[in-house]
Amino acid sequence: MTRIIACVSGKGGVGKTTVVKDLKGTDPRNLPNILLDLLGDSEIILLDVAAGLGRETLSALEAADEILLVTNPEVPAVTDALKAVKLAQQMGTKISGVVINRVTGRKHEMKTEDVMSMLGEYEPLGIIPEDINVQKSIASRVPVVHYSPRSPASKELNKLAARMTGTKYYQRERWYNKWFGFLR
Ligand SMILES: Nc1ncnc2c1ncn2[C@@H]1O[C@H](COP(=O)(O)OP(=O)(O)OP(=O)(O)O)[C@@H](O)[C@H]1O
Ligand SMILES: [Mg+2]
Repeated sequence: MTRIIACVSGKGGVGKTTVVKDLKGTDPRNLPNILLDLLGDSEIILLDVAAGLGRETLSALEAADEILLVTNPEVPAVTDALKAVKLAQQMGTKISGVVINRVTGRKHEMKTEDVMSMLGEYEPLGIIPEDINVQKSIASRVPVVHYSPRSPASKELNKLAARMTGTKYYQRERWYNKWFGFLR
C-alpha cells in the first residue's frame, strides 16, 4: 500500500524541500486527484507542504497517512513546528518522526534533547548537519545525495531515508579507506 507522508514545518525555510522532492506545478485543490493518479505506482508519496498553516497545509495533513516534521535547532523554528504538531493532533494524523536540519553543533544552538522535549514524544528520525554542499547542489540543480553522495548532509539524508523505509543504510567506502583506513 502507498504511504502518503506530508513533510511539514510550520516555519518556512527550514529545509523541507531539501529533504523531499518538490511536487512542482501542482494545485493543492487538485491534491486528491493527483494523489489518486500516483496511488499504486509508488511505495511512498512525499508531499512537500508549503510553509505556514493555511489551507494547503490543512488539505495535505488531511490527505496524508503520516507527517514528517522538519525543523531547525532554533527556538522560532521549533515554536512554529509545535503549532504544526497541535494541528496534526487536531486532524488526527500521526507524526511519524522529526527531522532537525542545519545542525551546526555550535554552543548557541538548541540541543537535540531540548528540541525533542519541546515537541513531545516523537522520534528524531534525522539530524542533518549544516553542509555547504547542499547550497552548491542547489546551484547545480542536482539533489545533494547525487551531487555529493559522501558529504555529511547526504550521509544523514540517506540514513533518514533508510529509517523511513525500514531498509538498511549502506554507504560505499572509498577504496583508500578500505585499504588504508587502519592508518587513521
Ligand atoms: N543541511 C543544510 N545545509 C546547508 N544549507 C541548507 C541545508 N538545508 C537547507 N539549506 C538551505 O536552506 C535553504 C532553504 O531550504 P528549503 O528551500 O529546502 O526550505 P523549505 O523549508 O522548503 O522552505 P519553504 O517553506 O519556503 O518552502 C536552501 O536554499 C538551502 O540553501
Ligand atoms: Mg520548500
